[in-house]
Amino acid sequence: MAACQSRLAASRRACFDPRAPIIPMANKDVTDPARMEKIVSLCKRRGFIFQAGELYGGLNGCWDYGPLGVELKRNLKDYWWRKTVQEREDVLGMDGAILTMEQVLVSSGHVGGFSDPMVDCKTCKARFRADNLETSQCKEKPSVCPGQSPKCELTEPREFNLMLQTNFGATGDQIAYLRPETAQSIFCQYKNVLDSNRVKLPFGIAQCGKSFRNEINPRNFTFRSREFEQMEIEYFCHPDDGMRLTEEWLAERLKFYGEIGIPREKLHILDVPDGERAFYSKKTYDIEYEFPFGIQELEGVAYRTNYDLGVHEKGAGKSLVYFDEETKEKFLPHVVEPSAGCDRTVLALICEAFDEEVLTDDKGKEDVRTVLRFVPRMAPIKVGIFPLLKKNDEQVRICREIQRTLQPWMTVFYDDGGAVGRRYRRQDEVGTPFCVTVDFDTLGENGPELAGTVTIRHRDSMAQERLTIAALLPWLLERVR
Ligand code: GAP
Repeated sequence: MAACQSRLAASRRACFDPRAPIIPMANKDVTDPARMEKIVSLCKRRGFIFQAGELYGGLNGCWDYGPLGVELKRNLKDYWWRKTVQEREDVLGMDGAILTMEQVLVSSGHVGGFSDPMVDCKTCKARFRADNLETSQCKEKPSVCPGQSPKCELTEPREFNLMLQTNFGATGDQIAYLRPETAQSIFCQYKNVLDSNRVKLPFGIAQCGKSFRNEINPRNFTFRSREFEQMEIEYFCHPDDGMRLTEEWLAERLKFYGEIGIPREKLHILDVPDGERAFYSKKTYDIEYEFPFGIQELEGVAYRTNYDLGVHEKGAGKSLVYFDEETKEKFLPHVVEPSAGCDRTVLALICEAFDEEVLTDDKGKEDVRTVLRFVPRMAPIKVGIFPLLKKNDEQVRICREIQRTLQPWMTVFYDDGGAVGRRYRRQDEVGTPFCVTVDFDTLGENGPELAGTVTIRHRDSMAQERLTIAALLPWLLERVR
């Protein structure tokens, strides 16, 4: 439901930030397709993201994360979990089933109303979102929007339910849905979590997991997918605290984005106006990021009042009322929901990190260095480990020993192929913040004072320094967590 509301709002955006100095609204229509093309190509070339089913022509709107993509995504999810659940006393975690009972989604309103308005073209049989026509392409004449070619024959808009239905049970006659958001299992288990953990309001339940929507027009790489992951918190509170907590969660979430390397100036806060929010929401902020394809939503922070618990209480016929032992008050808790898209945030991390730096050598020759400038805690590989010479057995032995010491703590990559400069560049391109090189100094061949030390090369500045092997682990741990 929130999805529909925010989508309809998308064309009428204004930028509002309640806290920071007003940042002028970057033009929503400013895009950089060439940059996006390079990012998509890098993602495939270096094993971050591939289209699902590519071997057979590809499954539209579904993506597979390769070896580096999965590390990046895991770093994001782990950091979100650490900040949201582990480092807070007032938020507990859960992991709900993906298959969702029909009745749950009837009560929540998804069966009846989780839809986008769509139009069909009778000529080319393509289907488009009615509220996105101006940014879509006619299938037969891609230089114009649907409806603009004389051959186009568009139907009136119709509602198209976005949920993916499945049948199960021995006879396959039971209907279930792949969940369209992780939130509903949290609402349904709210009372069990409350009773089994002896928590008091305000408290939150956090969940990170897959959601599914049969999007009419999946687009912009992984941005709008049919299968995606969400990182959601449902924060239950007293009705008097809802507005204040919405502001606090917005600030908290902005801080989080800063910590993962998305600068404040690239984020825009949309205070969704009355009439464009879901009818039950008293306040909704959309946190948006400047993607190369325009300013688009990363996360919603919504004050959902007691709507969700109210509909499930009614639907299930069971009380979800909270009793405050101190004040002796009974009430249905209100909910503040920070709901982030995991895949969208991964995409934002890659877009933000991508850089092409022009380097000029001593002879004035120019070269472009492609670098992913991830903050170290997000980088898929934390350290590259190189022997200067792969034929030097002692250098290789020391490298392998360093590898064994570091790899229980972080992702490392051993590489002995080609010139060391090329190895640095390969790591720059995938965002490895540090490279360690074992050389002849390490072996003490140029004097005893450097024996047992290695070179640490910094990705961003390309500066190098020497550290003892014994100091490596604590030095790195301080920088990559
Ligand atoms: N429980 C509230 C909810 O689901 P939403 O605005 O529909 O609200 C929350 O979704 C977040 O989930 C969005 O801000 C976005 O980051 C992510 N998301 C939603 N639909 C998506 C899609 N089709 N592909 C990728 N991410 C999506």
